[in-house]
Amino acid sequence: MDETKKDLMRSKKMNQKKERITRQNRWFFDSWAEHYDFLPFQFWMKKFHLPVLEELTSLPKQNKKIKILDLSCGSGELLREIEKIKMRNVELYGIDVSSKMIDVAKKKLSPAIRLKMMDVHHLDFPKNCFDYVISTEAFHHYHNQRKALFEMGRVCKKSGRVIVVDINFFSNAIHRMFEIFEPGCVRVNSQKEMFKLFQKAGLQKIEQQRGFLFSVATSGIK
Ligand SMILES: C[S@@+](CC[C@H](N)C(=O)[O-])C[C@H]1O[C@@H](n2cnc3c(N)ncnc32)[C@H](O)[C@@H]1O
Repeated sequence: MDETKKDLMRSKKMNQKKERITRQNRWFFDSWAEHYDFLPFQFWMKKFHLPVLEELTSLPKQNKKIKILDLSCGSGELLREIEKIKMRNVELYGIDVSSKMIDVAKKKLSPAIRLKMMDVHHLDFPKNCFDYVISTEAFHHYHNQRKALFEMGRVCKKSGRVIVVDINFFSNAIHRMFEIFEPGCVRVNSQKEMFKLFQKAGLQKIEQQRGFLFSVATSGIK
């Protein structure tokens, strides 16, 4: 088989894998959406939101408008918590690949928050658009994490901040188990791998912080 044919086969296989993972994630989170806000579960999920809320509450009062994009916003809990901070002049956006999650978010959030079904790998926003681009407890579901992070950087303003809070259990053996057993899970990164992904995406002043036993927040400036 010549090289061109091999390349075509490879790209066909990659496209099939990409579509399979997207389908799995849609199915998994569409079926979960109605019950996603179940309180005991949200008690744990909110731990993933803490580093973002700490960052936003520590901002000095300012008059300039702050635009925040919550990628894979799910049922919109983080956006609801950000709204509660009552920051002045803030514009909130949320996207998710699951239409049912977006429906749940639309029902409970104020209409001022712009919500749309969208895939993180193809963000329908112009470049240099947001001051904060955030993803919590979702990065391990992205089928092309380099591309997703590149997209996050693209829509982030110069000097804006990209924040990813994702699962991290210290042990790679546990990470591999997640990849096998959680539907739609692609790759759970070690702290070092996450740092490298941020570097490759061209983000600067990368900082990492362990939130509690099973999460790491990584942030970088564009
Ligand atoms: C575990 S939930 C986290 C939701 C929310 N960020 C939170 O902190 O509760 C993961 C979310 O990632 C979304 N997701 C998975 N793959 C995605 C993709 N390619 N683009 C956008 N969202 C995606 C799922 O639909 C789901 O709502």
